Amino acid sequence: MTIAQISVHVHALAVLLSLIGFVLRGIWMLKDSPRLKARWVKITPHVVDTVLLLSGVAAAYLMFWRHGVNPDYVTVMIVGLLAYIVLGLFALKLGKTKAVRSSAWVAAIVLFLYISAAGGMKTATPFMAAPSVAAAQAGAH
Ligand code: HEM
Repeated sequence: MTIAQISVHVHALAVLLSLIGFVLRGIWMLKDSPRLKARWVKITPHVVDTVLLLSGVAAAYLMFWRHGVNPDYVTVMIVGLLAYIVLGLFALKLGKTKAVRSSAWVAAIVLFLYISAAGGMKTATPFMAAPSVAAAQAGAH
């Protein structure tokens, strides 16, 4: 296995752990659970998200950037990660009311699933018809 492939696998594992952790913390936030204040609950997400970012950047460099290429779905992942961090901050820290916090939490999860679909399907528009299908549909009218 190449280092690029190892990076992508580490990245995918960090993606899964990040989502599970974020969903759990959101549920604890909604239930006002004291678990949210536990030391490991505060530290682990930073470790997981750092691994997610570094493995993603390593994979992007090894697979694309060093060849002077940047696929659109990698841009989706970078911009998406920034937006996910901001929404996550509002969901778990900055949101003043539970309505704001829970809306930000749901939006962050939807965004995360979109970014994952873009990465997994290697396209910035994962839920749109493939070009050939769109062309066939356009031709049918
Ligand atoms: C919330 C943030 C992110 C999520 C949810 C996410 C999700 C994913 C997923 C699900 C995959 C597919 C893994 C597989 O095929 O096994 C992937 C691949 C990848 N990600 Fe991310 N990612 C994120 C952020 C980033 C960032 C910041 C970078 C760095 C620039 C990055 C670079 C990559 C690269 C290079 C691949 C491999 C693409 C390929 O195989 O063509 N990702 N990502």
